[in-house]
Amino acid sequence: MLERGQILESVAIEELGAEGKCVSRYNNIVIFSERTVPGDVVDLKVTHFKKKKFGEAKIDKIIKASEHRVEAKCQHFGLCGGCKLQHIDYATQLHFKEKQVKDNLERLGKIEIPEIKPIVGSETTYEYRNKLDFTFSNKRWLLEEEMSLEHDTLYGLGFHLPGKFDRVIDIEHCHLQPEPSNAIRMEVKAYALKHGLTFYNVRAHEGFLRNLIIRTTNKKEVMVLVQFGENNGKAIQGLLSHLMATFPQITTLIYFINTKKNDTYSDLDVHVFHGPGYIQEEMEGLTFRVGPKSFYQTNSDQAYKLYEITRDFAGLTGNEVVYDLYTGTGTIANFVAKKAKQVIGIEYVADAIEDAKINSKINNINNTLFYAGDMKDVLNRDFITQHQRPDVIITDPPRAGMHEDVIKTLLFISAPKIVYVSCNPATQARDLALLDSDYKVARIQPVDMFPHTAHVENVVLLEKR
Ligand SMILES: C[S@@+](CC[C@H](N)C(=O)[O-])C[C@H]1O[C@@H](n2cnc3c(N)ncnc32)[C@H](O)[C@@H]1O
Repeated sequence: MLERGQILESVAIEELGAEGKCVSRYNNIVIFSERTVPGDVVDLKVTHFKKKKFGEAKIDKIIKASEHRVEAKCQHFGLCGGCKLQHIDYATQLHFKEKQVKDNLERLGKIEIPEIKPIVGSETTYEYRNKLDFTFSNKRWLLEEEMSLEHDTLYGLGFHLPGKFDRVIDIEHCHLQPEPSNAIRMEVKAYALKHGLTFYNVRAHEGFLRNLIIRTTNKKEVMVLVQFGENNGKAIQGLLSHLMATFPQITTLIYFINTKKNDTYSDLDVHVFHGPGYIQEEMEGLTFRVGPKSFYQTNSDQAYKLYEITRDFAGLTGNEVVYDLYTGTGTIANFVAKKAKQVIGIEYVADAIEDAKINSKINNINNTLFYAGDMKDVLNRDFITQHQRPDVIITDPPRAGMHEDVIKTLLFISAPKIVYVSCNPATQARDLALLDSDYKVARIQPVDMFPHTAHVENVVLLEKR
Protein backbone atom coordinates (compact mmCIF):
# COMPACT_ATOMS: atom_id res chain seq x y z
CA MET A 1 0.00 0.00 0.00
CA LEU A 2 1.10 3.53 -0.68
CA GLU A 3 -0.15 6.80 0.71
CA ARG A 4 -0.61 10.11 -1.03
CA GLY A 5 2.33 12.34 -0.21
CA GLN A 6 4.57 9.40 0.72
CA ILE A 7 8.20 9.75 -0.37
CA LEU A 8 9.63 6.74 -2.19
CA GLU A 9 13.39 6.84 -1.82
CA SER A 10 16.02 6.07 -4.46
CA VAL A 11 13.67 4.68 -7.10
CA ALA A 12 15.34 3.49 -10.32
CA ILE A 13 13.43 4.75 -13.38
CA GLU A 14 13.18 1.90 -15.86
CA GLU A 15 11.55 2.90 -19.12
CA LEU A 16 9.29 5.32 -20.92
CA GLY A 17 5.74 4.03 -21.11
CA ALA A 18 2.41 5.03 -22.63
CA GLU A 19 1.65 8.76 -22.85
CA GLY A 20 5.34 9.47 -22.24
CA LYS A 21 5.17 8.66 -18.53
CA CYS A 22 8.15 6.83 -17.06
CA VAL A 23 7.68 3.46 -15.39
CA SER A 24 9.39 2.28 -12.23
CA ARG A 25 8.66 -0.27 -9.49
CA TYR A 26 8.43 0.13 -5.74
CA ASN A 27 7.73 -3.03 -3.70
CA ASN A 28 6.29 -4.59 -6.87
CA ILE A 29 3.92 -1.66 -7.35
CA VAL A 30 4.19 0.02 -10.76
CA ILE A 31 4.75 3.75 -10.43
CA PHE A 32 4.23 6.20 -13.29
CA SER A 33 5.98 9.55 -13.20
CA GLU A 34 6.46 12.56 -15.48
CA ARG A 35 9.66 14.60 -15.87
CA THR A 36 11.76 11.54 -15.04
CA VAL A 37 14.14 9.81 -17.47
CA PRO A 38 14.99 6.11 -17.92
CA GLY A 39 18.22 5.60 -15.98
CA ASP A 40 17.45 8.28 -13.35
CA VAL A 41 17.57 7.40 -9.64
CA VAL A 42 15.10 9.67 -7.88
CA ASP A 43 13.05 10.23 -4.77
CA LEU A 44 9.38 10.26 -5.82
CA LYS A 45 6.37 11.75 -4.03
CA VAL A 46 3.14 9.76 -4.45
CA THR A 47 0.29 11.80 -5.98
CA HIS A 48 -2.25 9.03 -6.74
CA PHE A 49 -2.60 5.41 -5.78
CA LYS A 50 -5.06 3.08 -7.48
CA LYS A 51 -6.21 -0.48 -7.02
CA LYS A 52 -3.13 -1.48 -4.98
CA LYS A 53 -1.33 -2.19 -8.24
CA PHE A 54 -0.08 1.09 -9.60
CA GLY A 55 0.43 4.65 -8.51
CA GLU A 56 1.44 8.03 -9.86
CA ALA A 57 4.20 10.13 -8.40
CA LYS A 58 6.12 13.30 -9.08
CA ILE A 59 9.79 13.88 -8.78
CA ASP A 60 10.92 15.07 -5.35
CA LYS A 61 14.70 14.91 -5.71
CA ILE A 62 17.14 13.67 -8.34
CA ILE A 63 19.67 11.38 -6.64
CA LYS A 64 21.50 10.41 -9.83
CA ALA A 65 20.63 11.90 -13.23
CA SER A 66 20.37 9.56 -16.21
CA GLU A 67 22.85 9.91 -19.06
CA HIS A 68 19.80 10.45 -21.28
CA ARG A 69 18.67 13.52 -19.34
CA VAL A 70 19.11 16.85 -21.14
CA GLU A 71 18.29 20.45 -20.21
CA ALA A 72 14.71 21.33 -21.24
CA LYS A 73 14.82 24.21 -23.73
CA CYS A 74 11.48 25.77 -22.96
CA GLN A 75 10.64 28.10 -20.07
CA HIS A 76 7.12 26.62 -19.93
CA PHE A 77 8.32 23.00 -19.59
CA GLY A 78 6.57 21.12 -16.81
CA LEU A 79 3.39 23.19 -16.93
CA CYS A 80 2.55 23.18 -20.62
CA GLY A 81 1.42 19.81 -21.98
CA GLY A 82 3.05 20.40 -25.37
CA CYS A 83 6.59 19.01 -25.32
CA LYS A 84 6.64 16.70 -22.35
CA LEU A 85 9.70 14.71 -23.45
CA GLN A 86 12.10 17.59 -24.10
CA HIS A 87 14.20 16.69 -21.04
CA ILE A 88 15.05 13.34 -22.68
CA ASP A 89 17.64 13.12 -25.47
CA TYR A 90 16.16 12.68 -28.93
CA ALA A 91 17.73 9.23 -29.55
CA THR A 92 15.98 7.90 -26.42
CA GLN A 93 12.68 9.49 -27.51
CA LEU A 94 12.97 7.71 -30.87
CA HIS A 95 13.83 4.40 -29.22
CA PHE A 96 10.72 4.75 -27.03
CA LYS A 97 8.49 5.45 -30.04
CA GLU A 98 9.79 2.43 -31.94
CA LYS A 99 9.09 0.30 -28.88
CA GLN A 100 5.57 1.72 -28.59
CA VAL A 101 4.85 0.50 -32.11
CA LYS A 102 6.31 -2.96 -31.44
CA ASP A 103 4.51 -3.36 -28.09
CA ASN A 104 1.17 -2.28 -29.51
CA LEU A 105 1.33 -4.53 -32.55
CA GLU A 106 2.56 -7.56 -30.60
CA ARG A 107 0.72 -7.19 -27.29
CA LEU A 108 -2.53 -5.52 -28.34
CA GLY A 109 -2.74 -6.78 -31.93
CA LYS A 110 -1.27 -10.22 -31.08
CA ILE A 111 -0.32 -10.55 -34.74
CA GLU A 112 2.78 -11.83 -36.40
CA ILE A 113 4.98 -8.98 -37.56
CA PRO A 114 8.20 -8.69 -39.55
CA GLU A 115 11.18 -6.66 -38.32
CA ILE A 116 10.28 -3.04 -37.71
CA LYS A 117 12.38 -0.57 -39.73
CA PRO A 118 14.24 2.00 -37.60
CA ILE A 119 11.98 4.99 -36.99
CA VAL A 120 12.44 7.96 -39.33
CA GLY A 121 13.42 10.83 -37.04
CA SER A 122 12.86 14.50 -37.68
CA GLU A 123 15.89 16.59 -38.68
CA THR A 124 14.34 19.60 -37.00
CA THR A 125 13.24 18.91 -33.47
CA TYR A 126 12.04 22.46 -32.77
CA GLU A 127 10.08 24.90 -34.96
CA TYR A 128 8.71 21.94 -36.90
CA ARG A 129 5.01 22.78 -36.64
CA ASN A 130 3.16 24.76 -39.28
CA LYS A 131 0.11 25.44 -37.11
CA LEU A 132 -0.50 26.51 -33.53
CA ASP A 133 -3.78 27.25 -31.85
CA PHE A 134 -3.82 29.70 -28.92
CA THR A 135 -6.67 30.49 -26.53
CA PHE A 136 -7.45 33.82 -24.86
CA SER A 137 -8.46 33.64 -21.22
CA ASN A 138 -9.62 36.23 -18.72
CA LYS A 139 -8.11 34.12 -15.96
CA ARG A 140 -4.83 32.55 -16.86
CA TRP A 141 -3.12 29.88 -14.79
CA LEU A 142 -0.97 31.53 -12.13
CA LEU A 143 2.44 30.34 -11.03
CA GLU A 144 2.99 30.21 -7.28
CA GLU A 145 4.93 33.47 -7.27
CA GLU A 146 2.10 35.23 -9.17
CA MET A 147 -0.74 34.41 -6.75
CA SER A 148 -1.04 38.00 -5.47
CA LEU A 149 -1.49 39.57 -8.93
CA GLU A 150 -4.29 42.09 -9.52
CA HIS A 151 -7.34 41.04 -11.52
CA ASP A 152 -6.49 43.06 -14.68
CA THR A 153 -3.16 41.31 -15.01
CA LEU A 154 -4.80 37.90 -15.17
CA TYR A 155 -5.40 37.96 -18.93
CA GLY A 156 -3.52 35.25 -20.77
CA LEU A 157 -3.01 33.98 -24.31
CA GLY A 158 -1.57 30.52 -24.81
CA PHE A 159 -2.31 26.82 -24.40
CA HIS A 160 -4.78 25.01 -22.20
CA LEU A 161 -3.36 23.54 -19.03
CA PRO A 162 -3.49 19.75 -19.57
CA GLY A 163 -6.88 18.42 -18.51
CA LYS A 164 -8.34 21.87 -17.66
CA PHE A 165 -10.75 23.37 -20.20
CA ASP A 166 -10.95 26.68 -18.30
CA ARG A 167 -7.28 27.27 -17.53
CA VAL A 168 -4.83 28.75 -20.00
CA ILE A 169 -1.06 29.04 -19.60
CA ASP A 170 0.19 32.40 -20.79
CA ILE A 171 2.91 31.62 -23.32
CA GLU A 172 5.86 33.96 -23.79
CA HIS A 173 7.84 31.84 -26.19
CA CYS A 174 6.89 28.58 -27.88
CA HIS A 175 9.68 26.76 -29.75
CA LEU A 176 7.34 24.69 -31.88
CA GLN A 177 6.65 27.07 -34.77
CA PRO A 178 9.03 29.34 -36.70
CA GLU A 179 8.71 33.09 -36.44
CA PRO A 180 6.77 35.28 -36.84
CA SER A 181 4.55 33.02 -34.70
CA ASN A 182 5.74 34.27 -31.29
CA ALA A 183 6.02 37.85 -32.47
CA ILE A 184 2.43 37.87 -33.76
CA ARG A 185 1.00 36.31 -30.59
CA MET A 186 2.86 38.71 -28.30
CA GLU A 187 1.83 41.72 -30.42
CA VAL A 188 -1.84 40.68 -30.39
CA LYS A 189 -1.70 40.41 -26.60
CA ALA A 190 0.10 43.73 -26.15
CA TYR A 191 -2.36 45.54 -28.46
CA ALA A 192 -5.34 43.97 -26.70
CA LEU A 193 -4.12 44.97 -23.24
CA LYS A 194 -3.26 48.52 -24.40
CA HIS A 195 -6.70 49.01 -25.97
CA GLY A 196 -8.71 47.37 -23.19
CA LEU A 197 -10.04 44.49 -25.34
CA THR A 198 -11.56 41.77 -23.18
CA PHE A 199 -10.26 38.18 -23.12
CA TYR A 200 -12.81 35.38 -23.18
CA ASN A 201 -14.37 34.04 -20.00
CA VAL A 202 -15.14 30.44 -20.89
CA ARG A 203 -17.36 29.88 -17.82
CA ALA A 204 -19.57 32.96 -18.30
CA HIS A 205 -19.27 32.79 -22.12
CA GLU A 206 -18.40 36.43 -22.53
CA GLY A 207 -15.48 38.43 -23.83
CA PHE A 208 -14.24 39.76 -27.16
CA LEU A 209 -11.07 37.76 -27.97
CA ARG A 210 -11.48 33.96 -28.07
CA ASN A 211 -8.88 32.23 -30.15
CA LEU A 212 -5.82 32.89 -32.34
CA ILE A 213 -4.51 30.42 -34.91
CA ILE A 214 -1.24 30.95 -36.75
CA ARG A 215 -0.36 28.83 -39.80
CA THR A 216 2.97 29.05 -41.61
CA THR A 217 4.06 27.22 -44.77
CA ASN A 218 7.24 26.06 -46.46
CA LYS A 219 6.52 28.70 -49.12
CA LYS A 220 6.92 31.25 -46.31
CA GLU A 221 3.26 32.22 -46.37
CA VAL A 222 1.50 33.11 -43.12
CA MET A 223 -2.19 32.76 -42.28
CA VAL A 224 -3.60 34.30 -39.12
CA LEU A 225 -7.11 33.47 -37.90
CA VAL A 226 -8.77 35.33 -35.05
CA GLN A 227 -11.98 34.19 -33.42
CA PHE A 228 -14.04 36.95 -31.80
CA GLY A 229 -16.77 36.36 -29.25
CA GLU A 230 -18.54 39.66 -30.10
CA ASN A 231 -19.30 41.35 -33.41
CA ASN A 232 -17.64 44.67 -32.58
CA GLY A 233 -16.71 46.02 -36.04
CA LYS A 234 -14.61 48.94 -34.84
CA ALA A 235 -12.48 46.88 -32.46
CA ILE A 236 -12.06 44.11 -35.06
CA GLN A 237 -10.96 46.65 -37.68
CA GLY A 238 -8.55 48.26 -35.19
CA LEU A 239 -6.80 45.03 -34.18
CA LEU A 240 -6.60 43.51 -37.65
CA SER A 241 -5.36 46.74 -39.31
CA HIS A 242 -2.70 47.00 -36.64
CA LEU A 243 -1.64 43.39 -37.31
CA MET A 244 -1.33 44.00 -41.06
CA ALA A 245 0.67 47.20 -40.50
CA THR A 246 3.04 45.47 -38.06
CA PHE A 247 3.44 42.17 -39.96
CA PRO A 248 3.40 42.72 -43.72
CA GLN A 249 4.55 39.07 -44.05
CA ILE A 250 0.99 37.93 -43.14
CA THR A 251 -0.26 36.74 -46.53
CA THR A 252 -3.84 36.16 -45.42
CA LEU A 253 -5.77 37.38 -42.40
CA ILE A 254 -9.09 35.79 -41.53
CA TYR A 255 -11.58 36.21 -38.75
CA PHE A 256 -14.65 34.46 -37.39
CA ILE A 257 -17.43 35.76 -35.18
CA ASN A 258 -18.22 33.00 -32.74
CA THR A 259 -21.04 33.59 -30.28
CA LYS A 260 -21.61 29.87 -29.74
CA LYS A 261 -20.64 28.11 -26.55
CA ASN A 262 -17.97 25.95 -28.18
CA ASP A 263 -14.74 26.96 -29.93
CA THR A 264 -15.14 24.99 -33.16
CA TYR A 265 -15.21 27.13 -36.26
CA SER A 266 -15.96 24.51 -38.94
CA ASP A 267 -19.59 25.73 -39.04
CA LEU A 268 -18.80 29.48 -38.95
CA ASP A 269 -18.70 32.01 -41.82
CA VAL A 270 -15.18 32.88 -42.95
CA HIS A 271 -14.40 36.61 -43.12
CA VAL A 272 -11.30 37.37 -45.19
CA PHE A 273 -9.75 40.63 -43.97
CA HIS A 274 -6.66 40.41 -46.15
CA GLY A 275 -5.22 38.19 -48.89
CA PRO A 276 -6.67 35.28 -50.86
CA GLY A 277 -8.14 33.38 -47.88
CA TYR A 278 -5.76 30.43 -48.20
CA ILE A 279 -2.07 29.60 -47.96
CA GLN A 280 0.02 27.21 -50.01
CA GLU A 281 2.41 24.38 -49.21
CA GLU A 282 4.75 22.86 -51.73
CA MET A 283 5.76 19.22 -52.00
CA GLU A 284 7.74 17.63 -54.84
CA GLY A 285 6.72 20.39 -57.23
CA LEU A 286 3.04 20.09 -56.26
CA THR A 287 1.22 23.00 -54.68
CA PHE A 288 -1.31 22.33 -51.94
CA ARG A 289 -3.83 25.02 -51.17
CA VAL A 290 -4.78 25.07 -47.50
CA GLY A 291 -7.96 26.87 -46.52
CA PRO A 292 -8.78 28.19 -43.03
CA LYS A 293 -10.83 25.07 -42.20
CA SER A 294 -8.59 22.54 -43.97
CA PHE A 295 -6.49 19.87 -42.32
CA TYR A 296 -2.86 19.74 -43.38
CA GLN A 297 -0.23 17.57 -41.66
CA THR A 298 1.33 19.88 -39.06
CA ASN A 299 4.96 18.88 -39.68
CA SER A 300 5.41 19.53 -43.41
CA ASP A 301 8.95 18.07 -43.72
CA GLN A 302 7.99 14.83 -41.99
CA ALA A 303 4.70 14.70 -43.91
CA TYR A 304 6.77 14.53 -47.10
CA LYS A 305 8.75 11.56 -45.72
CA LEU A 306 5.50 9.90 -44.57
CA TYR A 307 3.95 10.24 -48.02
CA GLU A 308 7.12 8.97 -49.73
CA ILE A 309 7.02 5.85 -47.54
CA THR A 310 3.30 5.42 -48.23
CA ARG A 311 3.86 5.66 -51.99
CA ASP A 312 6.80 3.27 -51.79
CA PHE A 313 4.76 0.72 -49.80
CA ALA A 314 1.94 1.03 -52.35
CA GLY A 315 4.44 -0.07 -55.04
CA LEU A 316 2.69 1.83 -57.82
CA THR A 317 3.62 1.31 -61.48
CA GLY A 318 1.08 3.60 -63.16
CA ASN A 319 -1.57 0.93 -63.80
CA GLU A 320 -3.21 0.77 -60.40
CA VAL A 321 -6.56 1.97 -59.14
CA VAL A 322 -5.96 3.40 -55.67
CA TYR A 323 -8.50 4.26 -52.98
CA ASP A 324 -7.27 6.91 -50.52
CA LEU A 325 -9.50 6.58 -47.46
CA TYR A 326 -9.75 9.50 -45.00
CA THR A 327 -8.14 11.65 -47.67
CA GLY A 328 -8.52 15.02 -45.88
CA THR A 329 -7.68 17.65 -48.50
CA GLY A 330 -6.53 14.90 -50.85
CA THR A 331 -2.84 15.36 -50.14
CA ILE A 332 -1.87 11.67 -50.36
CA ALA A 333 -4.25 11.12 -53.28
CA ASN A 334 -2.70 13.95 -55.28
CA PHE A 335 0.81 12.97 -54.18
CA VAL A 336 0.49 9.42 -55.58
CA ALA A 337 -1.70 10.32 -58.60
CA LYS A 338 1.17 10.60 -61.09
CA LYS A 339 2.09 6.97 -60.41
CA ALA A 340 -1.45 5.54 -60.58
CA LYS A 341 -4.15 4.97 -63.20
CA GLN A 342 -6.83 6.44 -60.98
CA VAL A 343 -7.09 7.61 -57.36
CA ILE A 344 -10.38 7.84 -55.47
CA GLY A 345 -10.39 9.80 -52.22
CA ILE A 346 -13.09 9.66 -49.55
CA GLU A 347 -13.38 12.04 -46.61
CA TYR A 348 -15.97 13.18 -44.08
CA VAL A 349 -15.45 16.97 -44.29
CA ALA A 350 -17.13 18.40 -47.40
CA ASP A 351 -14.93 21.55 -47.42
CA ALA A 352 -11.81 19.39 -47.39
CA ILE A 353 -13.12 17.48 -50.42
CA GLU A 354 -13.61 20.80 -52.24
CA ASP A 355 -9.96 21.65 -51.43
CA ALA A 356 -8.87 18.20 -52.63
CA LYS A 357 -10.56 18.85 -56.00
CA ILE A 358 -8.96 22.29 -56.26
CA ASN A 359 -5.57 20.77 -55.41
CA SER A 360 -5.94 18.31 -58.29
CA LYS A 361 -6.98 21.11 -60.63
CA ILE A 362 -4.18 23.55 -59.82
CA ASN A 363 -1.63 20.75 -60.25
CA ASN A 364 -3.13 19.55 -63.56
CA ILE A 365 -3.99 16.17 -62.09
CA ASN A 366 -6.88 14.63 -64.02
CA ASN A 367 -7.08 11.09 -62.67
CA THR A 368 -8.55 11.75 -59.22
CA LEU A 369 -12.14 11.55 -57.94
CA PHE A 370 -13.23 12.72 -54.50
CA TYR A 371 -16.31 11.95 -52.45
CA ALA A 372 -17.52 13.46 -49.18
CA GLY A 373 -19.28 11.47 -46.46
CA ASP A 374 -18.87 9.12 -43.54
CA MET A 375 -16.55 6.28 -44.58
CA LYS A 376 -18.83 3.52 -43.33
CA ASP A 377 -21.71 4.89 -45.44
CA VAL A 378 -19.83 5.93 -48.61
CA LEU A 379 -17.54 2.93 -48.93
CA ASN A 380 -20.17 0.24 -49.50
CA ARG A 381 -20.78 -2.52 -52.03
CA ASP A 382 -22.66 -0.19 -54.42
CA PHE A 383 -19.74 2.22 -54.41
CA ILE A 384 -17.37 -0.58 -55.38
CA THR A 385 -19.69 -1.72 -58.16
CA GLN A 386 -19.93 1.81 -59.51
CA HIS A 387 -16.17 2.36 -59.41
CA GLN A 388 -13.33 0.07 -60.26
CA ARG A 389 -12.15 -2.31 -57.56
CA PRO A 390 -8.90 -0.96 -56.11
CA ASP A 391 -5.52 -2.63 -56.53
CA VAL A 392 -4.22 -0.70 -53.54
CA ILE A 393 -6.06 0.85 -50.61
CA ILE A 394 -4.35 3.60 -48.64
CA THR A 395 -6.05 4.33 -45.34
CA ASP A 396 -5.14 7.12 -42.91
CA PRO A 397 -7.91 7.20 -40.28
CA PRO A 398 -8.18 9.53 -37.27
CA ARG A 399 -6.87 8.44 -33.84
CA ALA A 400 -9.94 6.29 -33.21
CA GLY A 401 -8.98 4.03 -36.13
CA MET A 402 -11.46 2.50 -38.58
CA HIS A 403 -15.11 1.67 -37.92
CA GLU A 404 -15.80 -2.09 -37.84
CA ASP A 405 -18.09 -1.77 -40.88
CA VAL A 406 -15.24 -0.17 -42.84
CA ILE A 407 -13.00 -3.10 -41.94
CA LYS A 408 -15.70 -5.55 -43.06
CA THR A 409 -15.89 -3.69 -46.38
CA LEU A 410 -12.09 -3.83 -46.76
CA LEU A 411 -12.26 -7.61 -46.28
CA PHE A 412 -15.02 -7.76 -48.89
CA ILE A 413 -13.08 -5.61 -51.39
CA SER A 414 -10.08 -7.91 -50.97
CA ALA A 415 -7.53 -5.55 -52.59
CA PRO A 416 -4.06 -7.13 -53.05
CA LYS A 417 -2.46 -4.42 -50.87
CA ILE A 418 -3.48 -2.10 -48.06
CA VAL A 419 -1.18 0.66 -46.81
CA TYR A 420 -2.31 1.65 -43.32
CA VAL A 421 -1.01 5.03 -42.09
CA SER A 422 -1.82 5.59 -38.43
CA CYS A 423 -1.28 8.24 -35.78
CA ASN A 424 -2.29 5.79 -33.04
CA PRO A 425 -0.54 2.38 -32.98
CA ALA A 426 -3.06 1.06 -30.42
CA THR A 427 -6.10 1.41 -32.69
CA GLN A 428 -3.97 0.39 -35.66
CA ALA A 429 -3.08 -2.85 -33.81
CA ARG A 430 -6.78 -3.50 -33.11
CA ASP A 431 -7.67 -2.97 -36.78
CA LEU A 432 -4.78 -5.12 -38.06
CA ALA A 433 -5.98 -7.95 -35.81
CA LEU A 434 -9.42 -7.70 -37.46
CA LEU A 435 -7.81 -7.87 -40.92
CA ASP A 436 -5.41 -10.65 -39.93
CA SER A 437 -7.54 -13.48 -41.35
CA ASP A 438 -6.96 -12.18 -44.89
CA TYR A 439 -3.89 -9.92 -44.65
CA LYS A 440 -0.36 -10.40 -43.37
CA VAL A 441 1.84 -7.52 -42.26
CA ALA A 442 4.67 -7.24 -44.79
CA ARG A 443 6.42 -3.99 -43.82
CA ILE A 444 6.39 -1.60 -40.87
CA GLN A 445 7.88 1.89 -40.82
CA PRO A 446 7.36 4.26 -37.87
CA VAL A 447 7.86 7.99 -38.43
CA ASP A 448 8.34 10.70 -35.82
CA MET A 449 6.08 13.60 -36.75
CA PHE A 450 6.15 15.28 -33.32
CA PRO A 451 9.51 15.37 -31.50
CA HIS A 452 9.31 15.86 -27.70
CA THR A 453 5.79 14.42 -27.58
CA ALA A 454 4.70 10.81 -27.04
CA HIS A 455 2.94 10.70 -30.43
CA VAL A 456 4.12 8.28 -33.08
CA GLU A 457 3.01 7.75 -36.66
CA ASN A 458 3.25 4.30 -38.19
CA VAL A 459 2.95 3.00 -41.76
CA VAL A 460 2.14 -0.66 -42.33
CA LEU A 461 1.97 -2.55 -45.61
CA LEU A 462 -0.58 -5.36 -45.62
CA GLU A 463 -0.50 -8.01 -48.32
CA LYS A 464 -3.29 -10.42 -49.17
CA ARG A 465 -2.56 -13.87 -47.75
C1 LIG B 1 -5.33 11.64 -40.00
S1 LIG B 1 -6.37 12.61 -41.03
C2 LIG B 1 -5.74 12.12 -42.60
C3 LIG B 1 -5.63 13.23 -43.57
C4 LIG B 1 -4.88 12.99 -44.86
N1 LIG B 1 -4.67 11.60 -45.20
C5 LIG B 1 -3.57 13.76 -44.85
O1 LIG B 1 -2.50 13.15 -44.77
O2 LIG B 1 -3.63 14.98 -44.93
C6 LIG B 1 -7.88 11.75 -40.89
C7 LIG B 1 -9.00 12.31 -41.75
O3 LIG B 1 -10.13 11.47 -41.58
C8 LIG B 1 -11.31 12.25 -41.62
N2 LIG B 1 -12.38 11.47 -40.98
C9 LIG B 1 -12.58 11.26 -39.66
N3 LIG B 1 -13.62 10.46 -39.46
C10 LIG B 1 -14.11 10.12 -40.67
C11 LIG B 1 -15.19 9.30 -41.11
N4 LIG B 1 -15.97 8.67 -40.24
N5 LIG B 1 -15.40 9.19 -42.44
C12 LIG B 1 -14.60 9.83 -43.32
N6 LIG B 1 -13.56 10.60 -42.96
C13 LIG B 1 -13.31 10.77 -41.65
C14 LIG B 1 -10.91 13.52 -40.91
O4 LIG B 1 -11.76 14.59 -41.27
C15 LIG B 1 -9.46 13.70 -41.39
O5 LIG B 1 -9.41 14.53 -42.53
